[in-house]
Amino acid sequence: MTRVFLTLAALAGLGLAGAVAVVGLGLYNVSAQVGHWPGVSWVLHTTFRNSVALRAPSMEDAPDLSDPDLIALGAGHYATACAPCHAAPGDTRSATMQAMVPAPPHIAEAVAHWQPNEMHWIVENGIKMSGMPAWPAKERGDEVWSVVAYLAAIKVENAPALPDVTGETQSYCAACHERIGGRVPRLDMLGPDYIAEKLREYRDGTRPSGIMAQAASLVPPEELAALVKGLSGRAADRDSEEADPALLERGEELARRGTRDIPTCLACHGGDAANRRGPAIAGQPEAFLKVQLKLWHDGIYDADPLMHAAARELTEEDIEALAAYFSRLQP
Ligand code: HEC
Ligand code: HEC
Ligand code: HEC
Repeated sequence: MTRVFLTLAALAGLGLAGAVAVVGLGLYNVSAQVGHWPGVSWVLHTTFRNSVALRAPSMEDAPDLSDPDLIALGAGHYATACAPCHAAPGDTRSATMQAMVPAPPHIAEAVAHWQPNEMHWIVENGIKMSGMPAWPAKERGDEVWSVVAYLAAIKVENAPALPDVTGETQSYCAACHERIGGRVPRLDMLGPDYIAEKLREYRDGTRPSGIMAQAASLVPPEELAALVKGLSGRAADRDSEEADPALLERGEELARRGTRDIPTCLACHGGDAANRRGPAIAGQPEAFLKVQLKLWHDGIYDADPLMHAAARELTEEDIEALAAYFSRLQP
């Protein structure tokens, strides 16, 4: 018994000494030119697959991934955040990206092996020690679904072309804000000061959005003033679908009169720009309003305590009703 124990202890000691030598003396070559020792890639990849399979979210949390606005939004984000590594479908990866270890797979190949919920986990969390980054905002799994919608469209060879993001900053912003509805707000009714303030908050993370943090980080500070002036004069399409009259009525009642727990929204969001305390929201797309109200309700957006308090007691039905009402109200 003692002999077995002593042998095991000696082996453990040897193993430890070996590990110390490899780490301490630099015996493991970290060069990306020589790749991993035999077996290491297999271990890493198998760990990766099983780790994703264990943690991927349920598909019950997913929105409708075939929604064209959601796919277009994902494509808009992909163009600057992912294409530099994984290339656009139909393009080739740069030689430098192919020399990474592990190399980012071409996107057509990357989507082939995964289900949408697994891709959601990968894009939200990233992959440690591989160069694959995490989503640049916490608690915004809702945004990640737009990229997953785009990846799912690539998988069935039905993806829209990526927007051209090489032109002026203004046309880059317009690629989303003037062409896509759904969760993308219109900017034409917002003042330049409000837009500049929001861009700062997206950049410093006070307003956590991975999509807008990425977009805002691409604006050179010296361009900001000219950019926001140009943007605030533009219009986008409006929702035109009919809504359930009972829902609209409930939305109007809440917006005008509120309840014991919910203040009147129009006290801060109505009237003209001069005496409004919050931004204009009449005429914003319905899906955008729903997402925003949920973020304020959950406290993921909390920079304005009064707006957070106004949304805290809203039920899911209240949010539906208010979004339906405000999206159809004339700006
Ligand atoms: C800096 C380069 C880089 C960027 C930017 C990047 N990735 Fe990756 N990505 C990688 C690397 C490297 C891997 C391979 C990891 C591995 O195999 O261990 C990877 C893996 C993946 C995978 C899993 C594919 C597989 O089977 O290995 C998906 C899906 C993916 N990336 C999607 C995205 C999306 C979507 C974005 C943009 C939001 C993105 N990536 C941004 C480098 C990058
Ligand atoms: C890939 C699409 C995309 C691009 C490109 C983009 N945006 Fe956005 N933008 C969004 C989405 C989605 C939101 C809503 C984010 C959220 O959840 O708060 C948003 C929100 C905003 C808001 C907040 C509006 C409000 O009512 O609160 C401003 C301001 C804004 N964007 C300005 C810009 C500017 C300026 C640019 C160009 C530098 C730009 N965006 C580029 C998609 C985009
Ligand atoms: C006390 C004033 C006040 C009240 C009451 C109020 N809000 Fe707000 N709301 C604000 C302010 C201020 C902001 C901007 C906060 C920020 O971006 O930091 C805001 C932001 C919003 C936004 C996000 C708009 C955007 O473009 O990003 C929506 C949607 C919204 N409010 C809807 C409502 C609804 C619906 C109600 C009624 C249930 C309501 N608000 C009540 C002050 C108020």
